[in-house]
Amino acid sequence: MRDELFSGKIDLVDFTFDKQVVDVFDDMVRRSVPGYQSMIEMIGLIVKTYGQDNSYYYDLGASTGAVALALALNNPHQHNRIIAVDNSVEMVKNCKNNLDGKITNFDVICSDINDISCENSSIVVLNLTLQFIPVEQRQALINKIYQGLNPGGVLVVSEKIHFDDPKQQAKITELHLDFKRANGYSELEIAAKRQSIENVLITDNQQTHFDRFEMAGFKQSLCHFQCLNFASFLAVK
Ligand SMILES: C[S@@+](CC[C@H](N)C(=O)[O-])C[C@H]1O[C@@H](n2cnc3c(N)ncnc32)[C@H](O)[C@@H]1O
Repeated sequence: MRDELFSGKIDLVDFTFDKQVVDVFDDMVRRSVPGYQSMIEMIGLIVKTYGQDNSYYYDLGASTGAVALALALNNPHQHNRIIAVDNSVEMVKNCKNNLDGKITNFDVICSDINDISCENSSIVVLNLTLQFIPVEQRQALINKIYQGLNPGGVLVVSEKIHFDDPKQQAKITELHLDFKRANGYSELEIAAKRQSIENVLITDNQQTHFDRFEMAGFKQSLCHFQCLNFASFLAVK
């Protein structure tokens, strides 16, 4: 369904992943996040390299299950289970419907990702999810994921990022707005969505992500994909 959520909005409330958002989510994410499809394709490559047989793959903040699907369809092993987690009841319903019939080896769990332990995992993905976790809880979450990962396992984090250089920030923001305009969003929709989401989606810069991975204990981390102000990081245990 086409995302027209903000086309005539006057009463703006903070953005939540409710039924209205769930119904248009796939369209919204593709028209708002530059490089989204490539982020998902990279996860397909990563599972081929870093997936370990007899381990779990976690999709944390799964939404409609695009990452879970990429993990399952590209998995080179036989004995894995994909655990998709989201705390939005409506997202969980939608995710189950999307995955049913396409893959078999999965569970969809309605839970706060802070309450999930990722024991015996070789791949954990936070695709556009960490940015919605309160900043003061982010290090503890990454630490916990690190503890649950098997040696050689990886954490993939994709996020909207910001830049410390004001000129770079302004230029990339303008290009991101152009991307949304090119995808059919009006000036009114862009402004309304920004107002609705600005207290909810809190960005970090690249260095903060690298520092967090290092503090958790990851031996190597890198940015493997970036399109404008969206980046994907790979941290290896
Ligand atoms: C932008 S979406 C993620 C997109 C999805 N991973 C993908 O690649 O299409 C963020 C998701 O995180 C979920 N979320 C936010 N905070 C959460 C939390 N504390 N625990 C579990 N899920 C959470 C939201 O309900 C939402 O579905």
